[in-house]
Amino acid sequence: MKIGILGTGQVGNLIGSRLIENGHQVMIGGREANNERGLAFLKNNSENASYGTFEEASFFGEIIFNATNGRFALDALKLCNTDFEGKIIIDVANPLDFSTKPPTLIPEFANTNSIGESIQNLFPKAKVIKTLNTLGMALAVNPKQLNDGDHSVFVAGNDENAKIKTKTLLTEFGWNVENLNDIGDITASRAMESYLILMIRLSMSLNVPMLNIKVIK
Ligand SMILES: NC(=O)c1ccc[n+]([C@@H]2O[C@H](COP(=O)([O-])OP(=O)(O)OC[C@H]3O[C@@H](n4cnc5c(N)ncnc54)[C@H](OP(=O)(O)O)[C@@H]3O)[C@@H](O)[C@H]2O)c1
Repeated sequence: MKIGILGTGQVGNLIGSRLIENGHQVMIGGREANNERGLAFLKNNSENASYGTFEEASFFGEIIFNATNGRFALDALKLCNTDFEGKIIIDVANPLDFSTKPPTLIPEFANTNSIGESIQNLFPKAKVIKTLNTLGMALAVNPKQLNDGDHSVFVAGNDENAKIKTKTLLTEFGWNVENLNDIGDITASRAMESYLILMIRLSMSLNVPMLNIKVIK
């Protein structure tokens, strides 16, 4: 499958490299055509890797990952110059303000709003799915590294078919189907994004390289 990733940071690189390992063609994109981190992605991966602008990556992908800095996610998506009609946008961004320690949620995306639903509202023809934002991305794209892969991830979005396609990519990463917790429509992004406040405090107090939670029913 052809997949576009918006975001040249560590997260975009981790997702892109893992998707290539799983046999997909990936273009990652940033604001500039000569972004050093994008060029490094090309060098570090097979011929299935490519790099372009946000606009080029969004055009390239049948599925798009939003791996941009949460504060600027909507700005980045607007730079794609498309309405994303019919495309799945898998949003992994978090609305964190790192100006304090520990970071806080950016108020405009918190409580009665979220990045996930803001993207869905801005691009009503897209199928936005929120997932993978609740744990470190190195673990999220390779979950078998911890507890034999027996821990939890969440999925939210309005379109059932888009959820099925997203879950297929997640199982390719190594997630067990029973650990993919579908928590409803895209407004559930509010819960997934505000959970980061607890996750960050847990990370700070436990100070371990890998950490996640498991939902026990
Ligand atoms: N760290 C983790 O393990 C983890 C886990 C789950 C989710 N997340 C979330 O994943 C996302 C990406 O994380 P990261 O650390 O890779 O991000 P990052 O390095 O902070 O940013 C990634 C992208 O944001 C774009 N960007 C920055 N400022 C912008 C602006 N003013 N306008 C438009 N685009 C802008 C950058 O564009 P350029 O390429 O042009 O510089 C870059 O492509 C974040 O939302 C983060 O919260 C992180």
